[in-house]
Amino acid sequence: MAKLNRYWKLARRPVGNDFASALELVEHELETLVDGDVLIQNAYFSLDAGTRMWMSPREDSYSPPTPLHSPIIGMVLGRVVESRHPDFRSGDLVRAYGQWSDFSISRPDETYVERVSWQLDDLLQHLAVFGPNGWTAYLGVVEYGQTKPGDTFVVSAASGVTGALAGQVAAQLGCRVIGITGSTQKEAWLKEELGFDATIDHRQEDVAMRLRELCPEGINVYFDNVGGTILDAALENMALFGRVAVCGLLVHYDKETPVPGPYKFDQILMKRLQFTGFFSPDFYHRGPDVNRILKSWYEAGKLKMRFDVTQGLENTLEAYGKLFNGQKIGKSLVQVADL
Ligand SMILES: NC(=O)c1ccc[n+]([C@@H]2O[C@H](COP(=O)([O-])OP(=O)(O)OC[C@H]3O[C@@H](n4cnc5c(N)ncnc54)[C@H](OP(=O)(O)O)[C@@H]3O)[C@@H](O)[C@H]2O)c1
Repeated sequence: MAKLNRYWKLARRPVGNDFASALELVEHELETLVDGDVLIQNAYFSLDAGTRMWMSPREDSYSPPTPLHSPIIGMVLGRVVESRHPDFRSGDLVRAYGQWSDFSISRPDETYVERVSWQLDDLLQHLAVFGPNGWTAYLGVVEYGQTKPGDTFVVSAASGVTGALAGQVAAQLGCRVIGITGSTQKEAWLKEELGFDATIDHRQEDVAMRLRELCPEGINVYFDNVGGTILDAALENMALFGRVAVCGLLVHYDKETPVPGPYKFDQILMKRLQFTGFFSPDFYHRGPDVNRILKSWYEAGKLKMRFDVTQGLENTLEAYGKLFNGQKIGKSLVQVADL
């Protein structure tokens, strides 16, 4: 008998962060696998801010928009339960592009599917430290941001998974690390548990003024996760020959037309700044090499991540909203089955 599968589909383009009016949870019978397919029982899937961008109709993003009536795509961690691909077997633990669903059918020759080890103290770290967020943080800091020991390093969305990892990587390189985040509780996590030197609450404080106080010699590297007014505040405070590693532009993702700015664009010339954008699928193939470096820090207790895990596929939208209203800390996941 065919297996039933539930998945979230994009029924309409969302307005702002009203996901409940735009996404629908639907049930269907899973298709029969064909050669080259693997069937994954999702245990967890990742909630990513970038997914919001693909819910919009904009064609000029780094991936085309999700077509209406299609499943929402996301990174999953799950167990292969059936394989028609020679390199995968039932029981394999995989990280893969799947769907916000109970099961994902993926084609490893066409899309990202990677077998990962069962030998990890916390298997969820396959979706954090040792997955695309960890690689983005590491390469964003080390290669795209060209961060050096002694640099003053500032990161926005610092309590989110990529920002928190980027700050810890910079700390390992010997930088002074300042995180911009949105609550006292998040500031405490960053300073007391992750070793950030200082934090700024963008909901309570004047970010430009606080950066001026905290970085009298200027910012050498700004790791941008949000864009908007926080990017302007950083630009105003950059050091000569500073670097801006553009990881994400979170405040743009729910806009249907280009967002003007940054207002302080002239600082690129005045301070001779270097801007570099980067996108993790470009370097997925480097994941195993980067993981070897991250592993040594992780095992030494110098790279940490906490999880905001929501139980149940039906609670996905509420969990997703928390990425944008500041109501969560660390990596956001939905659990739909046991591993
Ligand atoms: N280039 C790449 O390949 C790549 C890969 C992964 C992620 N990214 C990007 O990196 C960024 C962060 O993603 P993530 O998955 O690490 O984060 P996340 O875990 O989804 O957390 C996002 C955080 O952003 C903060 N935030 C939300 N709205 C904000 C606003 N208007 N202004 C300032 N901060 C805001 C929130 O915390 P607060 O309480 O601090 O506001 C929230 O916790 C996103 O832009 C994402 O697209 C890029």
